[in-house]
Amino acid sequence: MTRPGPAGGEPRALFPTLIYDAALGARGMRALNRDLAAEARQIEAGDEAGQAWSAERYPGGYTSYGSLDQLQRMAPSVMRLERYLTRHALRFAESLHWDLRGRSLVMSDCWVSIMGEGCGHPGHLHPLAVISGTYYAEAPRGTSGLRFEDPRLASFMAAPPRRADAPEAMRPHVLLPAREGRLYLFESWLRHEVPPNPVEDERISFSFNFVWE
Ligand code: NI
Repeated sequence: MTRPGPAGGEPRALFPTLIYDAALGARGMRALNRDLAAEARQIEAGDEAGQAWSAERYPGGYTSYGSLDQLQRMAPSVMRLERYLTRHALRFAESLHWDLRGRSLVMSDCWVSIMGEGCGHPGHLHPLAVISGTYYAEAPRGTSGLRFEDPRLASFMAAPPRRADAPEAMRPHVLLPAREGRLYLFESWLRHEVPPNPVEDERISFSFNFVWE
């Protein structure tokens, strides 16, 4: 038996792209964010390889992506963060209706980014992972957020553009704001970017990947 279609010629929405948007919800989140920010700056100060990597490929900022990309194994505040993030990732997997088949989601890497004025990160995916995300430990007003791209963009071919007043779910790009204590999770194939930070204040975020194992 097939279900009747929506009445009145309303279209069905199929194959949605889900973005998980939540407050971390940690006890003592302010203190955790302070610890994360302080540890981020310590890591930066001690990471000469990362400073060199960032000078070349991350102008205006510092990232441990090219040098220390498993902070969840070495930085105490990030170990604490990992426990919360894993719970959120499992909740996201529920929303995605994933059948984990007795396996679980495990954080495979986590790195810190300190973005100063003008620092951005062009569009990319996270191959080899299943869920990726970002958590903001420090996000002063006006610092840049995370911009997602409709994954079907290359398939639209001759389609007309969408109207400027289209609702969020129908837009080709959506920019979600950086906010302290907020996290975004998304499937790792979803292309995203961080527009250049337009303000002087630094933004400190932790990005991470989860694998299914
Ligand atoms: Ni990314």
